[in-house]
Amino acid sequence: SKLEMFVDELPDMPKIQGFRMLNTSPKPKSLMIGMFKKKWKFHRDLPPTPVFAYGSSRRGATVPGPTIEALQGIDTYVTWKNFLPSKHILPWDPTIPTAIPATKTGIPTVVHLHGGMHEPANDGNANSWFTAGFKEKGPDWSKRTYHYNNNQQPGSLWYHDHAMGLTRINLLAGLIGAYVIRHPEVEGPLELPHGEEFDRPLIVFDRSFRKDGSIYMNSTGNNPSIHPQWQPEYFGDLIIVNGKAWPKMTVRRRKYRLRIINASNARFFRLFFTNGLEFIHVASDSTYLVEPVVTNETLLAPSEIADVVVDFSKSKTDEAVLANDAPYPYPSGDPVNELNGRVMKFTIKKEREVDTWRVPDKLIQYPSPDLSSATQTRYIAMYEYTSDTDEPTHLYINGKPYEAPATETPKAGTSEIWNVINLTEDNHPMHIHLAVFTVLDQTELVKAEEFKACMSKMNDAIKCQISKHARGKKLRVAAHEKGWKNVYKMTPGYVTRILVRFSYIHSNTSYSFDPTGMPGYVYHCHVSNYIAFPFMFGGYIFKYKT
Ligand code: C2O
Repeated sequence: SKLEMFVDELPDMPKIQGFRMLNTSPKPKSLMIGMFKKKWKFHRDLPPTPVFAYGSSRRGATVPGPTIEALQGIDTYVTWKNFLPSKHILPWDPTIPTAIPATKTGIPTVVHLHGGMHEPANDGNANSWFTAGFKEKGPDWSKRTYHYNNNQQPGSLWYHDHAMGLTRINLLAGLIGAYVIRHPEVEGPLELPHGEEFDRPLIVFDRSFRKDGSIYMNSTGNNPSIHPQWQPEYFGDLIIVNGKAWPKMTVRRRKYRLRIINASNARFFRLFFTNGLEFIHVASDSTYLVEPVVTNETLLAPSEIADVVVDFSKSKTDEAVLANDAPYPYPSGDPVNELNGRVMKFTIKKEREVDTWRVPDKLIQYPSPDLSSATQTRYIAMYEYTSDTDEPTHLYINGKPYEAPATETPKAGTSEIWNVINLTEDNHPMHIHLAVFTVLDQTELVKAEEFKACMSKMNDAIKCQISKHARGKKLRVAAHEKGWKNVYKMTPGYVTRILVRFSYIHSNTSYSFDPTGMPGYVYHCHVSNYIAFPFMFGGYIFKYKT
């Protein structure tokens, strides 16, 4: 029995304001957001699914969780509380580095605000986990209430679980939500589509389900004699948007702003409209663009955000399906099928309307990358590393596991050039905490095998003569991806140069908090590939301190 597409309405997740109004001035606010086990209907004809959901109460908890709306410069405090039971709803594998409570009961969780710029103690470090009632805590746990100062530029963020080794199953279980920072003085004059009806987060992910409605996850490890259940990549056949499989939405013949977040484990989406409607990109995952960029399709790696305006008045048809044609794994896996090639359907009302929203020619001008300001050049290499005791292959950054001490120590307020060298076979969406970066260029490595062989012995890009190898063809960085981002797709066999900026982008000020704080920050892949380091969903990682 196949599930029918486009039968459920696209839900809007509950909104929680991250500030309160006192007379007419906004003031800081403290929130409690819990994590609850409950059942969730992903489709009209699918039995309710056991999930983990964020919410102010069990009853109000949703998948994805509530959208938190913060105001630039106004503090939001969140006490993230774990109300989860003692046993997980999904299989996990203790043979990979994993948060495991001493009593072996309870589900470790910790929340990371993806795209946020905060003191390390509020960053949701993988080892800052805690179980229900804060009964057990990870080695880097330091506080119950996270402080988000929202001092950064306005934009689209999301929050999600980040616990060591469990992140992939905690997200698969539903621990995901959107977070928007608004700055009315700066954004208001743009007159972009705004307000509940016209500005909506779309959180997109893939899942598979059993007949009884429970989430299906392949729990036989790729290499079961060593890691019985470790399946680093997850692909599901149903595409879920805001908690419903292939939902539908009726829209007016007007412009809408859609903040599309790819919250999948490993699936890339290459999105397009079946009737040729265009995406007008107004921001990337960290900042507004200088000017809008129009595209027919948009490629989103896991954790990337497309912040676009879609003008439905331009539609020549009354229906438009948002579709996907990205092979999985990307780029050289299977082609999409009739299930995962469809995302959602828009039905466009017939009546013409006067549209009060616009897309201005100029959006927001942030400083452009200034190469001459870079104080450091670093080489960040991802390659396979072989040990005789474990898996044939480990994939680390610069050969270091997560347990190793932080290796890089950029200074708050500076900019650096990072050469990210991908010597693996796979495209890795590398995400940085705390900072923003722009992609300068992507250059193919010539004689990559030779370089790789050298790296696995010396682990030193300069001694292995990176400049001799970084001489191949160049890849174009898409216009809408030239802004400031916090995640980018690292093409295999290429070195990607990024300019990383360790300061706020909108005010030229440096972070105001203690830059030496522990436990530092991470740079990691938001996916994983075969036996990779099992952090995020797996993936490479290294720690840095500023
Ligand atoms: Cu969205 Cu460290 O992750």
